Amino acid sequence: MIRILAIETSCDETAAAVVEDGRRILSNIVASQVELHAPYGGIFPEVASRAHIEAIVPVIEQAMREAHLGFDDLDALAVTYGPGLAGSLLVGVNAAKGLALGRNLPLVAINHLEAHIYAHWLEVESEGAATPPQLSGGDGGGLSFPLLALIVSGGHTELILMRDHGQYEYLGGTLDDAAGEAFDKVGRLLGLSYPGGPAIQGAAQDGNPEACRFPRAWLDDSYDFSFSGLKTAVLRVVQKYDDPPQGRLLADLAASFQAAVVDVLSAKAARAAEEFGVVAVLLCGGVSANQVLRATTAERAGVPVYCPPPILCTDNAAMVGACAYRHFVAGRQAGWDLDVVPGLRLV
Ligand code: KG4
Ligand code: ZN
Repeated sequence: MIRILAIETSCDETAAAVVEDGRRILSNIVASQVELHAPYGGIFPEVASRAHIEAIVPVIEQAMREAHLGFDDLDALAVTYGPGLAGSLLVGVNAAKGLALGRNLPLVAINHLEAHIYAHWLEVESEGAATPPQLSGGDGGGLSFPLLALIVSGGHTELILMRDHGQYEYLGGTLDDAAGEAFDKVGRLLGLSYPGGPAIQGAAQDGNPEACRFPRAWLDDSYDFSFSGLKTAVLRVVQKYDDPPQGRLLADLAASFQAAVVDVLSAKAARAAEEFGVVAVLLCGGVSANQVLRATTAERAGVPVYCPPPILCTDNAAMVGACAYRHFVAGRQAGWDLDVVPGLRLV
């Protein structure tokens, strides 16, 4: 049995988790800074790193307590070293280095985007039932390859072809705003609270997704995305009114914007799934918590579409532990000179 304590501080969540054999979650603690950043309508990097410093030790202690383990029971430490905000990443990396050195444990360095993909290998308990068999299993279990990962988060929008564990091919990505960034910016335009994603999903519930025909950037036949034109189109409508939209108008704008984002993401994912003959599509990252994206992609893709529970879609450390297990058993360890790489890419 391999037990890894994983730490994640790349953005605005201070998170620590203990994961066994890359799939069993023994603890999963996430301290969100959402309320600290809400007044700014986005993440304030300096505020984020200070909050990480305050939260990191209690969060790690709680993760160990809830796992009912001591440091001697651990086999390794894992930490996200990029991509993300430099000041935020540094807090996690330095905490992990200090602990690993002090406790004489190996250190595994993890790419945040790869961790989002590995959320799919975590076991989840839902209403008494364990994860469907195709998703469990330390070796991919029934999840065979190739797989298509759509990573949609606050900082990234990428379509990745995964031919095997650790083997990634970049098919396309955003040329401007990330999908989550578009949700957050449009949420602000609509006068909704931060983060915009869940707020827009809520506001859109009773709206008509066809009320406004917002533009879709198809970008010919590429697998690239662009959301800045869509954001400007929403701005133009909002500017026609003196007050922030409310009631039906708000619901229709939110639903129409959400439909435009989901239309492009799901159509391109479905086309890539067919072109590359994948066995399943993995929705990864914070935006994959979106119910309409999940439902529409599942409708359009000719293969199963898997989505972790929302708590494992948004930033967490359990996914870092799942990913670290792969690297650890393959013998990959970080040196004491490990540094943060804010612009780290997956491919
Ligand atoms: O993966 P994540 O927690 O952090 C990053 O790595 O960026 O993603 C955060 C993003 C935010 O932009 C947030 O608005 C978006 O995920 N998000 C959603 C939903 N829940 C979170 N977007 C659309 N619908 C949701 N339900
Ligand atoms: Zn993330």
